[in-house]
Amino acid sequence: MYLKKMFTPYKINQCEIKNRFVVPAMVSNMCDEDGNITDQFIKYHETKAKGGWGLIITEDYGVNPNGVGYKNCVRLYDEKQVPANKKLTDTIHMYGAKMFAQVFHPGRQTNSKVNGGVQPISVSRIPDPFNQDIPRDMTVEEIHELVHEFGHTAKLMKESGFDGIELHLAHGYLLSGFFSTRQNRRTDEYGGCLENRMRIVHEIYDAMRAEVGTDFPLTARFSLTEDTVDGRPMDESMVMVKYFEELGFDALNLSNGEYSSYADESISTTFTPKGFNVANAKKVHDFINIPTIVANGINDPAMAENILQQDASDFIGMARASLADPDLPRKAARGQLGDINYCIRCLQGCIGNLLQQKPINCLVNPMIGHESEYTFESQPSPKTVLVIGGGTAGMEAAIAATRQGHSVTLWEKSDVLGGEFIPAIYPPAKGEYATFLVFLKRQLKILNINVVMNQTATVENVKAFGANKVIVATGGHPNKPHLEGIDNDNIHFANEVLLGKAPLNGEIVVVGGGEVGTETAMFLADGERGHVTVLEMTGDINAGLLRTVPTKRFLRDHEVTIVTHATVQEFGSNEVVIEHNEKTEHIPADHIVLAMGYHSNNDLLKSLQTELNNVEEAGDVTKPSNALVSSATGFKAGYYA
Ligand SMILES: Cc1cc2nc3c(=O)[nH]c(=O)nc-3n(C[C@H](O)[C@H](O)[C@H](O)COP(=O)(O)O)c2cc1C
Ligand code: SF4
Repeated sequence: MYLKKMFTPYKINQCEIKNRFVVPAMVSNMCDEDGNITDQFIKYHETKAKGGWGLIITEDYGVNPNGVGYKNCVRLYDEKQVPANKKLTDTIHMYGAKMFAQVFHPGRQTNSKVNGGVQPISVSRIPDPFNQDIPRDMTVEEIHELVHEFGHTAKLMKESGFDGIELHLAHGYLLSGFFSTRQNRRTDEYGGCLENRMRIVHEIYDAMRAEVGTDFPLTARFSLTEDTVDGRPMDESMVMVKYFEELGFDALNLSNGEYSSYADESISTTFTPKGFNVANAKKVHDFINIPTIVANGINDPAMAENILQQDASDFIGMARASLADPDLPRKAARGQLGDINYCIRCLQGCIGNLLQQKPINCLVNPMIGHESEYTFESQPSPKTVLVIGGGTAGMEAAIAATRQGHSVTLWEKSDVLGGEFIPAIYPPAKGEYATFLVFLKRQLKILNINVVMNQTATVENVKAFGANKVIVATGGHPNKPHLEGIDNDNIHFANEVLLGKAPLNGEIVVVGGGEVGTETAMFLADGERGHVTVLEMTGDINAGLLRTVPTKRFLRDHEVTIVTHATVQEFGSNEVVIEHNEKTEHIPADHIVLAMGYHSNNDLLKSLQTELNNVEEAGDVTKPSNALVSSATGFKAGYYA
C-alpha cells in the first residue's frame, strides 16, 4: 500500500498516535509577552491538527517567567495558565491528533532583551557566540529549584490535557549545556565525569516522572551531532542515547546542532543534503529499543516512507514542512503529492521573523501567523479583479482573491511566470526553490484563474478592462549607478547572468556582496567560467540568513576573490576602478556584473493611481524588499481585494 508505514498507527508508552507524521517543536512567537496562550496560537496549531498530523509537539515551554529565548514564547508555571492550555489540547484532540508539550530552559542561548531583563543563567560562565550576553553560572541551590520547577510544570502539563511531554536536551540549551564538555566547566557534582554531567537530567526526569506517573509519555529531544570545535562526537552520543533509554524516557527525538554550530546544522538550509540526519538516526534506532523520531530537511512523504522502510526511525519529524503546508498529511493520504506546498529551506519567514522577535511566517505559505485573520469564511461579494504582474506577489494575489470568490484575471507581460524569483533558483544550492513556482503555477491552474501571458498593461487597457479592483505587482528593476562607463558593453545585470542571457568568461567582477551578488558569484564560479571577484562596499559579504558561512566556504573553495570596503569609482572596458583602503585600485574585468539592489517599477502604478480609485499594490512595486514580503503582500492584497 502507498505510504503504508507512514499511515500505520504507533505507540509511545500508552499513547497511540494515528500515523507517523510528527510536527517537531517550533517557537512561534504567537503568545503574549507573559507567555500566555493566545487564540492565534491555538488556531495555528488547529490548522495542523486539521491537516492530519498524528503528533504535534508544541514549542519549548518555559518553566518560569524568565526561562525563554524569545519574547512571546509560551510558558507554564502557574495553575491560572491551565485553562488556556486545556483549550488548546481540547481543540487538537477534536481532530484525532495527539499533542506533546516540549519543556526547556534556554540557559545561555537567550539574552536580557527577551527574557524579562535578567542575566542569563548557564552551566558555566561561557557566553553563547550568537547571543553574546555573558551568563552567570547556576548555584547548586538554583539547580535544585529549577528541578522542582520542571516537576511542577510537568504536573500542570498533564492537567492541561497534553498527551505527553518532551524534555528538550538538544540545540545547546541549558540541559544539553550540562552534559557538554564544551559548555560545562563545573567542578562540583554537576560537572566532570559523564555521570555528574547527566545528574541534572536525571533529577529533572525523576521530578517529572513523579508528577506524571509511569503510563504517561515522557520523551527527550537530543542533538546527535554538534559540529563545533569540541562538540560531541557521534560515539559519545551513542553512549548517551543508551543512558536516556535506561533512565526511562519513552522515546527519543533525534536532531542536530546548537546555536554556535558552524554549519546550518539544527535547522538545515539547502546547502545541507535533505535528510542528512537519517544515517545517524538509523544507528540509534538499531541500538535502542524505544521509539525514535528523526527530523531535519525531510519535507517529502515519499522520502519519509522510505526512511521508515529502511528501519531508520519510527516517526518522521517535519517541522518547516508543516509551516509550508499544514495539510501535508491529508494530501499525502489522498495521493496528492503534487499538490503539496513544499518547504524550500529558505528560513526567511520562520527563523527570519523569529530573529526579529516577530511571530513566524512562511515564504511559501503567507497564511502562517495569520490563521485567525485569513479564514476564508466570510466571503465578500464577488468582484472582478485584475492582477498586473505574474511574479510571486501577483500569483499570490490572484490565488487569494480567487479563493475569496472573486473572478480574477492575471496579466503577465513576458512569456513566463515567476518574475525575479526565476533567477533566484539558478545559483548552486537553490534548486529546491523551484518547487515554490511549481506550486503557485499549479494553484493558478487548479483554481482556473484566467492568466494572460505577453500582455503589457497600460492605463488605457486597464481602464477598458473595467475591473472592480486592480492589483499592481509589477516588481522592481535592478539598480544602475550613475558612474562613468555604466553603459559599456561589458556591463551586465545579475539577473540576466543567472538566466543565461549573458555568457561570461575571463576576469569577471561582481559588484555587490549581498545575497544576489554572492549567489551570482557562486553561479559563475561553479560553472568555471573564469576568475570571479566580488566587490563589497561594507566590511563583509552577506548571503542571507545562515547562508553566509556556507557561501563563504563555497567561494573560498572556488577561489573567488572578495574585496570588502570597496567603493566603485568607474567602470572601464577591461577594469573596475575602486577606492579601497583610501587608495585607488584597478581590478581587471573582462565582464562586470551589477548586483546593487533594486528599485520599484512603479510608473504604471503611479499613473493608475491618478486615474482610478480602486488600485492596490503588492510586492516590490511599493518598496523593493525580498521574496517573503512579496508573497505576504501579494496574498494580503488578494485576500482583501
Ligand atoms: C521557527 C523555528 C523554531 C524552532 N523552535 C524549536 C523549538 O522550540 N524546539 C526545538 O526542539 N526545535 C525547534 N526548532 C527546530 C525544529 O524542530 C526542527 O528540528 C528543524 O527545523 C529541522 O527540521 P525541519 O527541516 O523538518 O524543519 C525550530 C525550528 C524553526 C524553523
Ligand atoms: S520560510 Fe522558508 S524555510 Fe521557513 S518554513 Fe517557509 S519555506 Fe520553509
